[in-house]
Amino acid sequence: MNILITGAARGLGYELVRQFADAGHRVYATTRNPETADKLKQVTDASGGKATLHRMDVGDGESVKACAREIGNAPIDILINNAGVWGGLDTQTFQNMDYENWAHEFNIMAMGPFRVVQAFLPNVLASQRKIIATMTSQTAAAAYDHVIGYSYASAKAGLNRLMTGLANELKDEGVTVTLIHPGWIRTEMAGPVADMDPPDAAADVMKVITALTPADNGKWLKWTGDEHPW
Ligand SMILES: NC(=O)c1ccc[n+]([C@@H]2O[C@H](COP(=O)([O-])OP(=O)(O)OC[C@H]3O[C@@H](n4cnc5c(N)ncnc54)[C@H](OP(=O)(O)O)[C@@H]3O)[C@@H](O)[C@H]2O)c1
Repeated sequence: MNILITGAARGLGYELVRQFADAGHRVYATTRNPETADKLKQVTDASGGKATLHRMDVGDGESVKACAREIGNAPIDILINNAGVWGGLDTQTFQNMDYENWAHEFNIMAMGPFRVVQAFLPNVLASQRKIIATMTSQTAAAAYDHVIGYSYASAKAGLNRLMTGLANELKDEGVTVTLIHPGWIRTEMAGPVADMDPPDAAADVMKVITALTPADNGKWLKWTGDEHPW
């Protein structure tokens, strides 16, 4: 299968590239800065051309379009919106909100995946599987009753609505649009206090994504494959 992953320099995105490439898939690994993505470059260099490195900043429409031009008309079976940002809890509380960070998080995590789907939909439609899988967060659920970072949680909640809208709009074209909460993972974003190591979380997410069928269109799943409450 052909797979495109955003935000692939580190964390979950890096692990997804590594594991999909190891499994023999054709992987388009995208990152803001290919020049500094040393770890990722080792994976693409060792893949014998099965995984390639591409520049894409999901916060910048021109960058997304340039990446789509570079990839051309290659079919993309699985488009994975993984790129994300977390400005830290201190600056997104009710008492102390950094509105610039809020706009940035919304741009990267809600508008970003929308831009990526706009730019790569022809590639998805040209593929066999036609899957769009997007990493969201449990904190976006109304059912999540712990402390939340308001900007991050609302950006992911906005993302959820954008993807459920696209699930409805694209279903007649055979596209499967699914949201995934990947678990609480010990990446740079969540830090060492989280639950899971990135290789384990990526293996679980990969299993869920590769098993998606049109029956999963519009669903929100956990890394376990179970449905996530809204
Ligand atoms: N970790 C968790 O516990 C957890 C829980 C729920 C959901 N998630 C979601 O899972 C996804 C992966 O998170 P992670 O934990 O792996 O985070 P991470 O370690 O912080 O990695 C985030 C990735 O996103 C990339 N990125 C940031 N801004 C970007 C932009 N403008 N354009 C393209 N790429 C950009 C980063 O690339 P650079 O190297 O260029 O900065 C980095 O590779 C995110 O969507 C996150 O919200 C994570």
